[in-house]
Amino acid sequence: MKRPQRETIIRLALAAESRDTDTGLHIKRIQSYSTFLAEKSGLSHEYSLMLGLASTLHDLGKIAIPDNVLNKPGKLTASEWEIMKTHSAVGSNNLANSRSDLLNMAAIIAMSHHERWDGSGYPLGIAGKEIPFVGRVVSLVDVFDALTSARPYKEPWPLEKIVALIRQGRGSQFDPELTDIFLENLQGILLIRDEFLKKETLSFVDSVNDDGSKSMVTAKESTNPAKTGKKRAVGIFSLSMMMSLIGKSWMKFCRKRDM
Ligand SMILES: [Fe+2]
Repeated sequence: MKRPQRETIIRLALAAESRDTDTGLHIKRIQSYSTFLAEKSGLSHEYSLMLGLASTLHDLGKIAIPDNVLNKPGKLTASEWEIMKTHSAVGSNNLANSRSDLLNMAAIIAMSHHERWDGSGYPLGIAGKEIPFVGRVVSLVDVFDALTSARPYKEPWPLEKIVALIRQGRGSQFDPELTDIFLENLQGILLIRDEFLKKETLSFVDSVNDDGSKSMVTAKESTNPAKTGKKRAVGIFSLSMMMSLIGKSWMKFCRKRDM
């Protein structure tokens, strides 16, 4: 795939992601982990790269989730949770039936990345190998990334606890074979994680390489719209204070002149 097409995909994924994460690095990490795990599972380099790129759109459907649900700081109610769960099908429907193999793969990932090996996932409740392989890969790395990442409401989990949870999910939440491959290659996964940790203050607007880790550029600002909004609010406040001071000085000057 050519660079402009890859960039379009990444930017589309970023647009969806920008509403609920800090820098959008989540999708880049998912891309790198998915590519890595797919290759370690024996898939070809090209197919693994395609899977990695398609994985960036796994949460595209969140674009349709209202802010009060998507960014709710506390626990979701049952009805809010039902709304949240619609992101799988919404994202998939927006991507499906394309002429592009990559977008069709992205549609499959969007639909299946919350399915569980034992059939207790959503939206379809399918089990085992009924769940497309690409969805099983993204399901595993998505959970790993969520646990290793800081969120406004939680610290990253310690590694031992994450490994224990993934082991525990082997054969219930996750594909058992894939879990084994993931754990056997944990060092490689951790290298990717550490690489991103080092570059957390970097932006990847320019980094649309297939391997997802090599062409980052320094970001002067966070891409978080909340932070940008805060900055804008501070700017507007400072500007209005300045205008008010100038106004007061001007009125004083006019009064003095009239006296
Ligand atoms: Fe999701």
